[in-house]
Amino acid sequence: MEQNSVSKEAWGSRLGLILAMAGNAVGLGNFLRFPVQAVQNGGGAFIIPYLICFLLMGIPLLLIEWSSGRYGGKFNNHSTPYIMKEMGKSPMWKYVGVFGIFTNIAVVAYYTYIESWSLVYVLHSVFGTFDGMSQSQVAQFFVEYINVFTTSTGIPFEAVFFYVLVLGMNVFILSKGLGGIEKVAKIGMPLLILFGVLLAIRGLTLGTSGQSELFPDANAWDGLNFLWTPQFDTLANPKVWIAAAGQIFFTLSVGMGTIQCYAAYLNSKDDVALNAVSAGFVNEFVEVVLGSSIVIPIAAGYLGLDWVLENAGFGMAFQTMPFLFQQWGEIAAAFAGVFWFGLLFFAGITSSLAMGTPWMGFMKDEFGWGKKRGAWSFGALALIMGLPTVLFYQYGVFDEFDYWAGTISLVVFALLETILFSWVFGIGKGWNEITEGADIKIPDIYKFIIKYITPSLLLLVFLGALFTPYQNEWMININSLWEGNGWNLDDGSIIKNISNAGLRRKLQTLTNEEDIIFLKDKIFFVNMARLMLLALFVFISYLVYLSYQKRLKEKNP
Ligand code: TRP
Repeated sequence: MEQNSVSKEAWGSRLGLILAMAGNAVGLGNFLRFPVQAVQNGGGAFIIPYLICFLLMGIPLLLIEWSSGRYGGKFNNHSTPYIMKEMGKSPMWKYVGVFGIFTNIAVVAYYTYIESWSLVYVLHSVFGTFDGMSQSQVAQFFVEYINVFTTSTGIPFEAVFFYVLVLGMNVFILSKGLGGIEKVAKIGMPLLILFGVLLAIRGLTLGTSGQSELFPDANAWDGLNFLWTPQFDTLANPKVWIAAAGQIFFTLSVGMGTIQCYAAYLNSKDDVALNAVSAGFVNEFVEVVLGSSIVIPIAAGYLGLDWVLENAGFGMAFQTMPFLFQQWGEIAAAFAGVFWFGLLFFAGITSSLAMGTPWMGFMKDEFGWGKKRGAWSFGALALIMGLPTVLFYQYGVFDEFDYWAGTISLVVFALLETILFSWVFGIGKGWNEITEGADIKIPDIYKFIIKYITPSLLLLVFLGALFTPYQNEWMININSLWEGNGWNLDDGSIIKNISNAGLRRKLQTLTNEEDIIFLKDKIFFVNMARLMLLALFVFISYLVYLSYQKRLKEKNP
């Protein structure tokens, strides 16, 4: 079955594979997204749905994607369009597979931007830029940094420079192939865990030592208790479930096409069950244990839990942590800064490298493009998509990419691939693929879960996002529908989002001329961002179409 065994790429070792897969999953999502999601969704109220989603959607999707990937690899397919076509037989599936390349290019565009912030912050920690800065100065530093035209250091386009640099590093490593990815994972993952453990120990031992006159109630334990005291009252709130499911997808890298791609480089006899489960658990350890022991307790330890609840957001990592580290003295602050931002950088780069592989695999399989060409063309696409997120960050281009490519399309793709696996390919064959060569026994109940539970939950999550009711009040809306008064959509629902309902409503309330201009610009940029995403999807679909014509010609010359 193995045709061109001469130049066949494969993983160097099982350890390398596990670390690369764990590196793919462990990313910025574990340290930046998880704590914020948990806090915004009620702390202990979030954890239960989150863990249930891990067991009922996360693990099944990992098994589906690992086994689909290995299956595709048997036929020399290394990206989702033809992996899915092979499984589904109908040629239409290859267009569903476009998601598995599209998402990665769209996400890498903004993901490497955050990665570049981490790198810059490592440097600034070493050079002591934050020494003696007040909390608001540290926060302002970030605001000025992302305003690419006037940076705090006076270097215009500093953010662009570092963005391109980090993208270039990714391209360089990718051009070395799987071996390069393995090497980075073997260095980056242990360091990341070491840094994470050191910072977590600090977070867990801080206690009330960070209290100050300004924040007399600060206590790191409040942060931990908030996260870890289970609350059952929100279990009936779909909003929390949708957030939990979204986090599970993002953090495990499922619904993206990268796992299939990595797994396609396995040998057909290699285990997938144990690998999938271990990579998943490594990710959960890093996320749940390390990810929740750093930002939240440290911020709560100095600023109090109330402050954290009010300010939870992306900014905490960049706008607050450097200031908090200063409280430990200059030397310790430099170390803590290097640990924290170094950790983020390693977490980021092992994930962004993964995002390059589906494109490279596809171009190699279909058009014979080598590693260099594949890596550089990937970099070029990422740059074209990414520059607008960097230059027009304030206008929400970044958030728009994260919403459509980093959130919605994961759910859509995960739903479609589960249907393909369980119902088209068939759970019988699918289960054989999962268990063949397996080094552990997956409980048989998972056969049932994968067939019925996972697709149903995915469908519910998708419908919930599509028709999110007004102000997330599910019960009120269900009653209203029941009584014949209809369903009120929230501005955050996918349907309302498409028409920019929320932004338009806000526009009507504004009176200040400047604010109005800004918001109008924002609507313009949001629409442009969507057009770009659509163009990318169409472009990849076109390449898939071309490749299919090429395949047909080669079959019947
Ligand atoms: N799982 C990664 C994180 O937690 C993100 C990620 C990895 C990703 N690979 C991806 C996102 C592919 C989209 C596409 O940060």
